[in-house]
This record gives sequence, structure tokens and C-alpha cells, in this order.
Amino acid sequence: MILNNPLLAEILDQHYDAILFLDPANMVCVYHNQPARVLFNLDLKQEDRFSFKDLLSDSISEQRFITALNSKGRNDILLDRLPLKRFPDQSVICGIKGKRLTLEGHEWLFCTFRDVSERIRMEEREQAIQAQLIHANKMTSLGTMASGIAHEINNPNNYILSNAQMVADVWDDLATLLGDQPDFDPDTILGGLSFCEARTLIPKLLYGIIEGAGRINAIVSRMKQYSRPLQQENKDSISVNRVVQFAVSMLEREIKKRTEHFELKLEKDLPDIMGYEEQLEQVLINLIHNALQALPDTNAKVTVSTRRVNDIIEVSVSDEGEGIPESRRSRIFEPFYTTKQQNGGTGLGLYISYGIVTEHGGQMEVDSQPGRGTTMTMRFPAYKEDKE
Ligand SMILES: Nc1ncnc2c1ncn2[C@@H]1O[C@H](COP(=O)(O)OP(=O)(O)O)[C@@H](O)[C@H]1O
Ligand SMILES: [Mg+2]
Repeated sequence: MILNNPLLAEILDQHYDAILFLDPANMVCVYHNQPARVLFNLDLKQEDRFSFKDLLSDSISEQRFITALNSKGRNDILLDRLPLKRFPDQSVICGIKGKRLTLEGHEWLFCTFRDVSERIRMEEREQAIQAQLIHANKMTSLGTMASGIAHEINNPNNYILSNAQMVADVWDDLATLLGDQPDFDPDTILGGLSFCEARTLIPKLLYGIIEGAGRINAIVSRMKQYSRPLQQENKDSISVNRVVQFAVSMLEREIKKRTEHFELKLEKDLPDIMGYEEQLEQVLINLIHNALQALPDTNAKVTVSTRRVNDIIEVSVSDEGEGIPESRRSRIFEPFYTTKQQNGGTGLGLYISYGIVTEHGGQMEVDSQPGRGTTMTMRFPAYKEDKE
């Protein structure tokens, strides 16, 4: 037949796409060019035949191909994203163009195949990045909103605090004054309570208000501090232990929820390091948060420790969580790399943290055993005043 023509075979071998000639009656492939043998990893000689069905990776692919082949009134086939087999056990997603041709009185199906796996991977990655950007943007807006709320809460909370303080002082004087009156009946009823009861209860109630408002104040000022934009001149000598304690106080609720074994091992009298306090707080919050999220249950432990090794200050966050398999370890610092898509992961935590740590002249190291846990260690040069 015409396909036995060596010149034609050579021309088709030069083609960019994989080409097969099939007999549509029995799906036997009577011709395959060199790119086809490469694409499907066929260990065949030019003259060998094979059944095209062996390339259809599953019944769905087979059904799609046959439907396209038999569609009435058409003698061409166009299929997008059809998964085919790459021998022995891989798969390749192909775009297929086919045409029925009559050669020497026999009908053949001339098909070209293009590998679109890479294009699909790129499209999927682009969609994921787009979704992550939208999410990251939402997080930034939430941060701005949180600091706005912090400001709004601050004012009324300050009235509560100062008014309650004043009422407490007045009550104190009033109670003493009344109690000292010789003809005052201590069983006099005040708002349903006897004076005697009120005398012990009211200071407690007022103390509750003052203490509660004080706590709100502390949270609000932390929120404002955390969302304050960074100023270059804030670079200062900072205590790593204080940074750790701040991060822990920010995550207090999350820590209580995720583990019963949270331990701080902070070495006393550590030298300071030079840097931006808020940035380092952000790093510690990211790392502790990741550690908590990796825990299987509340029995698993998280330890945050600091220590000095010669002129280096070491901070490490250790968890007994799921660990990071070797194959993922090189990717965790990539922007938008996350395995927590379902739980609102942004994949920005480690990327940002890594940037901050290196900007501080520090190093970051991951040590992880899948199934047993992860330790993230950071090393910063100690700040020596006498050098200045
Ligand atoms: N302590 C840890 N234990 C297990 N996996 C971790 C840990 N820290 C980070 N990872 C992995 O690194 C990925 C990237 O972390 P990160 O940049 O903080 O983004 P996110 O937490 O939003 O996913 C996580 O999705 C997770 O797969
Ligand atoms: Mg994270």
C-alpha cells in the first residue's frame, strides 16, 4: 500500500505530531510515525501493527472515541483532552484530529495526536493562583477591617473603664458613710439586695467590669500594633523571648483548642537581635500556627524554644504533627504552595516568613519526619552593642 512508500514514511516521521493510520473496521493501527512511538512509548518496529484499543486508557475514553468515530454525516473527528495510555503504565492527555480517507479502495482513519498534558497543568495552576490571590486579597482586607474595628472598640471601652472606676470609688465612700450612720438599718433593701449583701457584692461586680474592660483594652492594643504598617526606623534591638511571648498571646485561643501540651522553653538572659519586632512576631505566629494545624489531636505536643549557641540566637518551633514528606519539602517556601486549600490556606505564611528571616540575616531550616513531626529552626546573629 501507499504507506509502504519509504519517502512518505520519512515525511510523516518528520511531522511534529504523532500520527496513526487506523482501520476503522477493527481499530487496528497499520501505521505509526516516529513521534507516535515516542509519545505512547511503543516498543514497535515500523511495520508492526497493534490494536488502537490498547491505547484507550479506560471505558470512558473508548466510548468517547467510538462516538466521535461513528458520528453520522461527518468524516472527521475532533476530540479534546482524551486520556490515552503511555506504555507501560502512564497516561497522556491528547488532543486528537482525525479524518476518514479512502486509499486504494479501502477506508482508513488518519489521526494526529498532540500532547496537551502540560497545557492543562498550566491552566489548572493558573486557576489555583488566581483563586489564591483573591483569597490573599480578602485576608488583607480582613486585616484592615480588624484594625478599624479595634479603633472603634477603643473609645467606648475607655468610657466603660473610667466610668466603672469612678462608680467603684463612689460606692466605696458611700458604703462607708452609710455603714457608719448609727441609725442606719443594714437590712435596708437596695435593688433587691440587703445593704449587707450589696456591700460585699457590688465591689466584686464593679471589679468584674473593670477587669473585663482592661482585657478588651489589651486585645485592642495588640490588634492595632499587629496591623500597624511597618516603618523602617522601627529597626531596633529586640528580645526574641518577648517576640515569642507576644506571638503565643496572640494565638492563645487557638493553642488551647488544638493541644493540651504546649510548652515554652525560653533561655533566660538571651542577648537581643537586631530587627523589626512586628515582622518577627508575624514569623512566629505563622510557624506556631502551622505547627498547631499539623497536629492530629490535642494529645500531640508543640514546643517553642529559644537558646544561645555562641553568637547565634536559635528559635525553634517543634510539633508532633503529620510531618512533611520529602517530596513536598522543597516546595513549602514557594508562594501559594499550600496543602490546606480546603481550610483557607494561602500558602503565603512560609514564603513571607522566609523572606523576613533572610532579611534579618538569619537562616531557616526544616527538619521533618513524616508521621512524627516537624521542627522549624531559625538562627539569627546576636546583636552586640560593643561593636557599634
Ligand atoms: N509544621 C508543619 N507540619 C506539616 N506541614 C507543614 C508545617 N508547616 C508548613 N507545612 C506545609 O507547608 C505548606 C505551606 O505552609 P504556609 O506557607 O504556612 O501556607 P499555609 O499554612 O497557608 O498552607 C502547608 O500547606 C503545609 O503543607
Ligand atoms: Mg501557614
